[in-house]
Order: sequence, then structure tokens, then C-alpha cells
Amino acid sequence: MNKNFLNDFPILRTQMNGQPLAYLDNGATTQKPENVVRSICGYYGGCNANPHRGVYELSQKSTKVYEDARRKVTKFINAKSAREIIFTKNATESLNLVAFSYGLTNLQAGDEILITIAEHHSNLVPWQIVARAKGAKLNYIYLTADGNLSEADISAKLTRRTKILAVTQISNVLGLINDVKTLAAKAHEIGAVVIVDGSQSVPHIPVDVQNLDADFLAFSGHKMLSPMGIGVLYGKQKILDAMPPFLTGGDMIEYVTEQETTFAELPQKFEAGTQNVGGAAGLTAAIDYLQGVGFDEIARVENDLTTFAISELKKLPYVELYGCDAPNKVGIVTFNIRDVHPHDVATILDAQGVAIRAGHHCAQPLMKFLGVNSTCRASFYFYNTRRDVERLIDAVKTVRGVMKLN
Ligand code: ALA
Repeated sequence: MNKNFLNDFPILRTQMNGQPLAYLDNGATTQKPENVVRSICGYYGGCNANPHRGVYELSQKSTKVYEDARRKVTKFINAKSAREIIFTKNATESLNLVAFSYGLTNLQAGDEILITIAEHHSNLVPWQIVARAKGAKLNYIYLTADGNLSEADISAKLTRRTKILAVTQISNVLGLINDVKTLAAKAHEIGAVVIVDGSQSVPHIPVDVQNLDADFLAFSGHKMLSPMGIGVLYGKQKILDAMPPFLTGGDMIEYVTEQETTFAELPQKFEAGTQNVGGAAGLTAAIDYLQGVGFDEIARVENDLTTFAISELKKLPYVELYGCDAPNKVGIVTFNIRDVHPHDVATILDAQGVAIRAGHHCAQPLMKFLGVNSTCRASFYFYNTRRDVERLIDAVKTVRGVMKLN
């Protein structure tokens, strides 16, 4: 392990079940470096007050921490204005905001929403509910044998009836990078609005919303070194301005009378109630840390670990890999061991200090499409090492023996 990362992430020096921790569940959440932990403690220890509400100095300090985070995110994803950055709890809340505010307002009976079969439930269930409420149809782009989006489906299903295209930039199960820029251009030609789930992309590759021409981008802080409970919705200002609020109450209003309310301007219109300022402080520190590491280095490490893990797993005849032959991948390796339930695999690995995720990964329609109920998933980040992957492979090799299948 790079010495600096070991120093910066003390949790990576801890043990799990008496073995050194090999943390390979970064798709679920990442670990937090010391500067992020310090920024949260610093906020609560030195600047905590309710932002936007007090005229006193401490409240103004809190407001500054919060709005500095918004400016940091604006630059990080190259939004045009800080008004286009809405803080939420996580990507799930961001996607629900778009579905229930934009979707419910703009969809008509007979309209179509197009998503991919590789969506996380967070970019699927809200669209099912909104489609049902409005009499709209939910269509799917399926995958080719190598796991990429089917061009035939895109041509056939992206039509003038499509009003919304909601697509993940990187699948949380397969790790494949979708060409969102080309998809957005096609969708815009027919007048559809483009929503990008960036939960697995923003932490791993540079994302520029103007370059992608995404109308909306959702992501979570906790998958990119920040604390849990802070997320982002980016939206183009013109579209956000025209949308009704999602949650209502404190801080998002202009005037309230007994029967009527007018709403605050962006971004406050979409930020009802006291917000997660400590989380925003953590997000600022996380972006600083990520920029210090650099996306080139992140890609270099993840490519190395992914290629190594896949080549080692391919040597084991009882391992089945999913979506592992496509070149456009980030550090996610999804597999099954013949005749062993993924939960048993994960439990056997846990006993050896190796943390992976097993299950349906909040993507049950994708599981059905792949013909499985669940899989094992190892997901890497820049602080992982070849030693972590060797530990994964060594542990995988013990599974069938532990299950008495050899
Ligand atoms: N969405 C997270 C994952 O894929 C929790 O593991």
C-alpha cells in the first residue's frame, strides 16, 4: 500500500475477524481519509450553527462552510453556476427529486421514459411510480452479450414519445462505462430530458456536466470519501427554475400566508429544512483529497487491480464472471462460484478479512436479465493494492473446500 494512504485511512490498518482488512466494497461506500474526519470535527467543534437563519457570526460561519461546499462542487463537475447545485441526502434522494418534481409535472399519458436494464433501483423505482401515476410507459435498453448497451435498442426505443432518458453512467454491478455524452446528444435531438446517475462515475472518472450536456446529474458523497448523508443533484438552471419544489417547509420559502406560499430562488427552493452542513464540510475536504490523488492515478490503480483480479479469477474453472470482457470498465468485478450462494462466499471471505458485497446489489431486474438471483462483487478504489486482490483470490480458492464441494 502507498504509505500516504495507509496514514490517511487508519481504518485500512484495522483487522476484521482477526485478519488484516482487505476492504473491497467501495461500490457500496468508501472509507474516509483523516482530512475528511477532521473537517467534520472542525465544523461541529468550531462553527456549528443553523446556516442561512442567523445574523450572528457563528451562523454566518456555518453558512460560509455550506456555500463554500456548493462552490467546490460547482467547479468539480464544471456546472455553470452554484445555483445549479442542490444538496440532498444522497443520489437516491436526488433521483426521487427529479422524478417527483420534473416527472410528475411534465409527463403526460402516452409519454415514454427510457432507462437501462442496468439501473440501480434508485433510478428505476421512482420512474415506475411516476409512470404509473401519469399513464406513461417505462421502456428499457437491454445489454449485449458483453454487457454494453444495445445500440439496436437505443435506436428503436429512443423516439419522439421519449420524454425522459434516465441512465447510469457506470453500472454498480458490471462497472461498465456508458457513453452518456452520445446518448444525451441523441436524446436531445428528439427533445428528451437526460438524467444521469453518477453514483459510480463521479468518484472514479472526471465528470463534466457541460461536456456531457446532462440536464441532471445525481451522486452521493459517501461513495467518494465523504460522510454518509450528503448528496448532490445538479440540474440546468432553466429546468430547475421551472420545476416545483419537492420537499417543503423551512428555508425554501419566500413568503407564507395562511393559504399560499411563494418559494425561494434556487438552490434554496429545493433544500427544505436544516441541511447537513457537517456533511458538506466533509464533501469539500473529500473533493480536495480526490483532486490531490488525481483521476489519472485513480484510473491507473483501478485498471491494474481490475485486470489482475479478472485474469486470476479466469484461471478458476468454477468462477463465472459478468461483464468482465469489455474494455470500458472501472474497478468493479462481479462473479459467482459454481454451486455456492454468494452470501456463503461473502461469509467465507469475511472470516479471512476480505470484505465484498453479495446479493442483488439493488439491481434485481439486471440480475433477472443476467439469469441469476445474486452475485459476489469486489469493488476497488485508489487505496487498494495488489495484495488486497491476492487476498481476495486466495480466499475465493478456499470457498469450495469450506463448502465441501471439492
Ligand atoms: N448502491 C450501493 C451499491 O451498489 C449501495 O453497493
